[in-house]
Amino acid sequence: MNALSLTVSDGIAIITIDLPNEPVNKFSASVIAEFDAMLTQIEGNGAVKAAVLISGKPDVFIAGADIDAFLEFKSAADAEAASASGHRMMSRLEKSRVPVVAAIHGACLGAGLEMSLACAYRIATDHPKTVLALPETQLGLIPGAGGTQRLPKVIGLQAALDMILTAKNVRAKKALQSGLIDELVHPAILRDIAIQRAKALAAGSLRGHNRKKPGALASLLEGNPLGRAIVFRQARKMTLKKTRGSYPALPAAIDAVEAGYRGTAALGYATEARLFGEMAATAASRELIFLFFATTSLKKDSGVTGASPAALPVTQIGVLGTGFMGAGIAAIAAMQGIPVRFKDMKHEQVGRGLAAVRAVLQERLTKKQISRQQFDDQLSLVSGTIEYTGFGNVPLVIEAVFEDLAVKHQVLAEIEKVLPRTAIFASNTSTIPIAQVAEGAPYPENVIGMHFFSPVQKMPLLEVIVTPRTAPEVIATTVAVGRKLGKTVIVVNDAPGFYVNRILAPYINEAGRMLDEGVAIEAIDRAMLDYGFPVGPITLLDEVGLDIAGKSGAILSKAFGDRLKPSASLGQVLASGRLGRKSKKGFYLYDEAGKKGGVDESVYALLPTGARRTALSADEMRHRCPLAMVNEAVRCLEENIIRSPRDGDIGAVFGIGFPPFRGGPFRCIDFVGAAEIVRQLEAMNVKHPGRFVPSALLVSMAREGKRFYPATGKPV
Ligand code: NAI
Repeated sequence: MNALSLTVSDGIAIITIDLPNEPVNKFSASVIAEFDAMLTQIEGNGAVKAAVLISGKPDVFIAGADIDAFLEFKSAADAEAASASGHRMMSRLEKSRVPVVAAIHGACLGAGLEMSLACAYRIATDHPKTVLALPETQLGLIPGAGGTQRLPKVIGLQAALDMILTAKNVRAKKALQSGLIDELVHPAILRDIAIQRAKALAAGSLRGHNRKKPGALASLLEGNPLGRAIVFRQARKMTLKKTRGSYPALPAAIDAVEAGYRGTAALGYATEARLFGEMAATAASRELIFLFFATTSLKKDSGVTGASPAALPVTQIGVLGTGFMGAGIAAIAAMQGIPVRFKDMKHEQVGRGLAAVRAVLQERLTKKQISRQQFDDQLSLVSGTIEYTGFGNVPLVIEAVFEDLAVKHQVLAEIEKVLPRTAIFASNTSTIPIAQVAEGAPYPENVIGMHFFSPVQKMPLLEVIVTPRTAPEVIATTVAVGRKLGKTVIVVNDAPGFYVNRILAPYINEAGRMLDEGVAIEAIDRAMLDYGFPVGPITLLDEVGLDIAGKSGAILSKAFGDRLKPSASLGQVLASGRLGRKSKKGFYLYDEAGKKGGVDESVYALLPTGARRTALSADEMRHRCPLAMVNEAVRCLEENIIRSPRDGDIGAVFGIGFPPFRGGPFRCIDFVGAAEIVRQLEAMNVKHPGRFVPSALLVSMAREGKRFYPATGKPV
């Protein structure tokens, strides 16, 4: 045995899972084989009456399957066979003469939860680290170790579909309410209680699966085939509406669950294995697994190329500017337990900023993501000021003052007088080159960019921008802080638009040019929703604000010429005074509360072709905006703005919402082939001269038949 160890005392076997040299426990073929052998051993020992399965890791029960192993599947049949072998072991566990109590503390995910479901009784700790989930659909897969079959039996059909389709984490308290676990205990007594319950199971005085009775409506629906048919139909409809058919694992998961109700148990499990196999062979799954590996490798990247200095400790941060972005940054710092000194010019602005921080935390409290005590503690970490008092020991200051170089220089000059010599000055500017912010700074090596996206508490990406003068320990420290703030961090070099806004610009511009040509607003948005973006480009313009888009567009076209020139439509609508959602007037209609309605037909009169609308070929609709973005992303790699295709893909997916099932711009090129992308760009460039000239790197890759990522094995 390697991962499992056994002790037997007083009739109870304690099986401890603790994978050597691994931070977490995960399932693989070898762990399944060990469990099989373990079951044989304890079943063969007449002295063993019941067992407890517990983890030897501090805060993880079982984190799921070993995702590296998924890369070894050569075909759908391989993956199906792996699932079937998991089924055999779980079924043995479920039917064993030795009832097993799952003693869960920490993450209990994927195959870990599926194993717990095959146990006779489940106890979990009442601890924030204890979460239960079936996250497989996030990797483009379906639960493959019996989850689609056992979960509905334990918590009911609708609750199970919800858990599987959303892949969401369920906290222990919620798990108790739904019947997912049988008992909730303090971590200190988990082991003892588990042993007691094992003894009771052995004595026949306790029965597991004390499933909570479904409510009247739920049982009415779920208790008969007609009702269930409604539930399944509804789930399929919602899924299709949400994903537009781009994530095949979701309907496959519904099919697997349904099979469990339609025929024998064997049919249910066989369907799950078959669909798991089929999903493992999809392109969507391959790309989502790539994103998993890419984010994992990014977490280990200090952001410094070559030998990396250690990050300096940051136990407090300063935030200058208590406006929209400043408040978001202060809130996420407080959420992580970091004290924040929060400064603006007037008390009134500080008060508004503090209220905004409070609102962010309040939302978490309302959603029960934090307790009242945590809410109070976090709120008390943010202290406001209109002077520079309290900044004397602050190791990192993030400025989020007006987007005006003179104001940025002014606050930098003022605060440098009070900050410690080594303090980092990070700018959240969205458009001003960091080198310009650093001009005149006494310690330019301490100046860096931290480009958060709005809303800060929701957007996962942070772009850290470095200049040739930024010191390596400043980079390493800033990246570490960004990660501590819960962000996925990419490090980019200083250039107009940095990376994310630079590749967003040609995409938005092409959408705007389609408007110039007379294409209908909703047709453009629909085409990009169908492609897989979370919102259409015209909706995005309204969201971001036409003034902000106009300003950024002007900067980028000044830097890169006509290739990145904004559309006439944007200019004309902006000139009319419409700013988008914030002014409740843009391309779409907004009600008093700011809720978006349909297209505002009156906006067409402001566009170059007026109300006359023309159709565009489906192929052009679909390719034009993404091609412009993908080509620009390659230019950024060519110009060293991004450090790797990995960073480029992560930046596009997490910063813009580039369709995750496509992996990102560079993965997309690898999938389609550089030669084909060059051909498409050249064809588009004939129609729209100057804007689709393939980047030199792309052309050379096409010529040499090269890819950005290896064709087989671990992608990053
Ligand atoms: P905002 O207008 O909501 O907030 C700016 C705040 O800075 C105001 O409260 C203002 O009173 C304060 N301020 C101005 N001069 C100051 C000074 N000398 N000392 C202290 N406080 C001062 O603006 P927002 O949207 O929060 O933007 C701030 C920065 O973040 C800008 O550089 C912007 O480009 C950048 N940014 C904005 C994004 C957005 O979506 N709004 C996204 C990413 C970056």
